[in-house]
Amino acid sequence: MGIVFSDNPLFENWGRPLRLESNIIGLELVSGELPDTLSGCWFRAGPDWQYPSGRDDDIFIDGEGMVHRFKFENGGVSYRSRWVRTARFQAQEKAGRALFGKYRNRYTSDPSVAHISMGAANTNAIFHDGKLFALKEDDLPYELDPDTLETLGRYDHKGVVKSVCMSAHPKIDTVEDKLLTYAYQAKGDATNDIVYYEFNGDGALDNEIWFEMPFPGMVHDFSVTPHYAIFPIFPMITDLERIKQGGDFYAYYPDENMHVAIVPRRGTAKDVKWFKGPAWSAGHMLNAFEKDDCVNLDLCLYEGSCFTFLKTDKGEPTAFCPPILSRLTFNMKQHGDEFARRPIMPVPCEMPRTDDRYQGYPISHGFVIAYRGQDGTSALGKVDMSTGEMKVWSPGPRSSIHEPQFVPRAPDSPEGDGWLLVIVNRLDENHSDLAIVDANDIEAGPVALFSLPMRVRSTFHGTWVPAETIATGHHAMRRML
Ligand SMILES: [Fe+2]
Repeated sequence: MGIVFSDNPLFENWGRPLRLESNIIGLELVSGELPDTLSGCWFRAGPDWQYPSGRDDDIFIDGEGMVHRFKFENGGVSYRSRWVRTARFQAQEKAGRALFGKYRNRYTSDPSVAHISMGAANTNAIFHDGKLFALKEDDLPYELDPDTLETLGRYDHKGVVKSVCMSAHPKIDTVEDKLLTYAYQAKGDATNDIVYYEFNGDGALDNEIWFEMPFPGMVHDFSVTPHYAIFPIFPMITDLERIKQGGDFYAYYPDENMHVAIVPRRGTAKDVKWFKGPAWSAGHMLNAFEKDDCVNLDLCLYEGSCFTFLKTDKGEPTAFCPPILSRLTFNMKQHGDEFARRPIMPVPCEMPRTDDRYQGYPISHGFVIAYRGQDGTSALGKVDMSTGEMKVWSPGPRSSIHEPQFVPRAPDSPEGDGWLLVIVNRLDENHSDLAIVDANDIEAGPVALFSLPMRVRSTFHGTWVPAETIATGHHAMRRML
């Protein structure tokens, strides 16, 4: 029996499974010149499909983790990709077929793998304490060798974490050399528990705060400021009975509320301040910052479900609504639980990123994927956070981009002064490019453009790691406040 993927549109055209581990020494330079200060690695993670599932309900956020690395050294760029050899991947490789069920629903898996985590390590790649990790929020991290991308195994943070999983959206404080992270549904599927963790630069646990959310919702991303950790909890809820019956892991509950927990980073569960709003949702936060008595959270906000593949709690389809970059303002001194919302920029955008040295502080600019067209095209956007004005670089017709990565020009350069790394999908030509754009002048287009001979099929999130950090194991950026 051969490999046959279903006729799910997910597997057509650009989405066709690639299933390829690559090693390209020296990418072809198409135009421009690589800035000579760029030295380090850009690690990214995304999904691909090891085997066909045999079902027709696969979704784009599922699939086995593939880690990608663009290595900048000696004036050139090399590319490598490797599967993350999770327990799930290895079990399927041994069987020669898919064994795991629909997205995050272990009750739909083959009974032979009932004891094995479904974690696919397909969402993000981060670097901390000299270690490279591939992350997905339903499992603990997988550690990889940063040089070979070989999988070293599941990582439990030196045995100190009690949660069964870890978020794929931690924040690395590259100035204080800290890992700020969390887990939700932290005691297992459909549990209400959230735990916030801070690890120091040597990987030791500095702080741990457990608290409970009002329902087992989705908490895909969070944000931090110097004094607070901010957890938006959206009404995309896991019902254990539903998943036991083979249903979807999340359903969208339009009659529920979104909740926001603001947790003092040195507090306890009793210090959490709660806010409540409509049944909005978001996948991704841009940034948060404190001002006067308020905490501000900037995020790509949907006035409904952020995933159109979700059904409501009554089994109805969810409506499409555009993600609008918005600011939520929470007054920490008020008695009520309401908060204010204002749109920052009207153009729909997603995968927001910043100069990450300034996460938690007021920033001047955000970087986004903008203009997602019906034909799959998109562009790089740079949003002025004070005016809402957006500057754009479009990679051209029938082209789309992955989440951008900001790289400071120097460890102590001003906020936003640096480069943007962007993977470009050439949809008709069936290959990818790597664009390096000056963040100070994105409309000028790439200062250097490299070409890959094949697709980088899909990546969600990633991290730039300077060569010095890989060598020392420590982040040593500067924040000019
Ligand atoms: Fe994400």
